[in-house]
Amino acid sequence: MKIALGADHGGFELKEKIKSHLLGKGFEVLDLGTNSTASVDYPKFGHAVGHAVVNKDADFGIVVCGTGIGISIATNKVPGVRAALCTNTTMARLTREHNDANVLALGGRIVGDVLALEMVDIFLSTAFEGGRHSNRINSIEAI
Ligand code: RB5
Repeated sequence: MKIALGADHGGFELKEKIKSHLLGKGFEVLDLGTNSTASVDYPKFGHAVGHAVVNKDADFGIVVCGTGIGISIATNKVPGVRAALCTNTTMARLTREHNDANVLALGGRIVGDVLALEMVDIFLSTAFEGGRHSNRINSIEAI
């Protein structure tokens, strides 16, 4: 499975930890930057990850900025993206089961590393439930 990663300077350090974690577990990683703590604008990194997921260059995306808010808003501008900002493991599980989220958004200045990596593992290992949730996803896609 290939995972696209993107972050701004506020999410860079957590992105690097997620990258090592995923590579250690045998995932392929498509790192779309940023590549340092130098200040950058988050929209282009969210846009790049969103496009990678929608174009099937990656199976899922993970985006990180300081709060996770700005980059989740930017990533969700790409049609077909369902980016979910999560702050706990229940949200990470439910957004896969109910929302079929294809991008996980995290706040590098909000959540600790251990929790973040746990959310990554849960997000990537949880299946969409389908059923009644499919109609809701189809309605979102129709907007
Ligand atoms: C950058 O300083 C910060 O605004 C950004 O990382 C993010 O938190 C925006 O939502």
